[in-house]
Amino acid sequence: ALALVAPRDLVGVRAVVTAGGTREPLDPVRFLGNRSSGRQGRAVAAALAARGADVTLVAAHVEVPLDLPGVTVERVSTALELERAVRALAPTADVVVMSAAVADYRVAEVSSAKIKKSADSPGLTLELVENPDILAGLVRDRALRRESGDAESGSTRPSVVVGFAAETGDAAGDTADGGGATVLDHGRAKARRKGADLLAVNAVGERAGFGDVPNAVTVLDAAGDVVGEVAGSKDDVAHGLVDLVAARLGVGGR
Ligand code: CTP
Ligand code: CA
Repeated sequence: ALALVAPRDLVGVRAVVTAGGTREPLDPVRFLGNRSSGRQGRAVAAALAARGADVTLVAAHVEVPLDLPGVTVERVSTALELERAVRALAPTADVVVMSAAVADYRVAEVSSAKIKKSADSPGLTLELVENPDILAGLVRDRALRRESGDAESGSTRPSVVVGFAAETGDAAGDTADGGGATVLDHGRAKARRKGADLLAVNAVGERAGFGDVPNAVTVLDAAGDVVGEVAGSKDDVAHGLVDLVAARLGVGGR
């Protein structure tokens, strides 16, 4: 049946959602960035808040307004800032959804002055270092807290950690018989590597995934097994994902 009003079954649930693309500075005026619009993270935050969750949206650079009822916004810019914000919030959160497009690399040393063109060298080489994997870190830190048996400081939190992965098939072809790895193969490997409780795998190609066009996501658990499929707009995907989160939290669902 069509639910015209979202059930308020997430009242009392604390959720942290990240959105947008991080920017990694090169010098005072330049950065390395990505094309994430923040729309998917915004939709997830809105869907959680509509069901009564207390939501903090940790927003990197976004193209959409973030003034949503029931959502507190914290602004960050770089991957390291995003990591700091999420790590501070996670131990008291029930749900963390990593929708942000986190830069995999940052510049090894940010120049304090504007980088000038050099007359005697034809190009410019940047040295990059890897950023921490925030999602994998959340899962790892939680496992350590669970092991230590330190029940005081919400040691089992966050109980549901969710990631997003945009994948393409290999150049060899996106079919199992094409010989290359499929979107789902890549998604499964990533799910196992990261250990998130839920990983929403989005097949990106000419048809779906970018901008404001419909998505089709397959949701995997930490073992890489398919636990759900959601298609439609970013709002539809967000609501479907929140249903799976609610089921994991042991509340309602529709
Ligand atoms: N992510 C993260 N920290 C990073 C990179 C990614 O928390 N440094 C999160 C993203 O927010 C997303 C998930 O991990 O929820 C998957 O991101 P993705 O870029 O697909 O995975 P990577 O491990 O970076 O692998 P790839 O080499 O395919 O980029
Ligand atoms: Ca990446």
